[in-house]
Amino acid sequence: MTIAHAHPNIALVKYWGKQEKAGNLPATPNLSITLAGLTTVTQVEDGTTDHFVLNGETSQDPKLQGWLNTLRDTFDVPPLHIDTGNDFPTSAGLASSASGFAALITAINAHCELGLNQEMCSDWARKGSASAARSILGGFVALVPPQWQAVRLASQEQWPLEVVVAVTSNEAKSVSSGEGMERSRLTSPYYKAWLRDAATDFAAGSQAINDKDFQGLAAVAELNCLKMHSLMLTSQPTLSYWTPASVACMDRVRALREEGEDVFFTVDAGPQIKAVCLPGSADTVAAALAETPGVIDIIRSPLGHGARVVT
Ligand code: PMV
Repeated sequence: MTIAHAHPNIALVKYWGKQEKAGNLPATPNLSITLAGLTTVTQVEDGTTDHFVLNGETSQDPKLQGWLNTLRDTFDVPPLHIDTGNDFPTSAGLASSASGFAALITAINAHCELGLNQEMCSDWARKGSASAARSILGGFVALVPPQWQAVRLASQEQWPLEVVVAVTSNEAKSVSSGEGMERSRLTSPYYKAWLRDAATDFAAGSQAINDKDFQGLAAVAELNCLKMHSLMLTSQPTLSYWTPASVACMDRVRALREEGEDVFFTVDAGPQIKAVCLPGSADTVAAALAETPGVIDIIRSPLGHGARVVT
């Protein structure tokens, strides 16, 4: 039996839309931070048939089964019992698929002695969920062409930012990221502009991380996030993952910044707000978001490590 841990990551320069060719490749370069405060624990052992348990319940997961079958095209992998649990809401915009596939390939690699290095694990994680490629590494991580394997931009020790997650709904999303981004690619009138701006946003985000320029990172990350949500809103049919409380939290973060706090927000395909802070502002930001009407939970997180085997 082998157990692996992985953390979700949140993109500060996002991808939303894939390339048409095979391999589950993002259309644009993207970068993220890995969150130590949320964890997926995945246990793998030999079985007589494949059996998946998610958060204590047997689950049929065609995406996971398809990924496992693809892995078996290359490697000799026996039937597996896979038991995975998240200590945070699943499929609700907190990147549970990223930590899920990162933990899974890490556990299977060790359990079945596949001999994959970190780059190869990132490659296999990406085939399950493109953002999962980034959760193989900790700290600040980029996913860029031509390899589309995680690359470390900086460690969590080099720039120890903190993240305050304001949970505004625990419900699983009704439109998956994969389905949503395909809808935007095909129907949003702004998709071409999104592709055009991506390299510039990625370069600005990477430079800000390199320079530890918090204001610079705040500017590019907030605008990039709102560009992605503009694509969602202008898709047909429209996509909106926000609750009224998501909007209230974004307003609160802007107000906090005007009051002098070092904070910016980002939002993925879900209703949760992630407020990224310099450590000195994290207590004030957490207290302010906890008081915002509609916020049901606050999760605080430092930046953390990549996926790893624990037994
Ligand atoms: O790779 P997926 O299917 O988990 O989709 C990720 C989509 C976003 O989180 C919204 C953006 C990103 O770059 O992580």
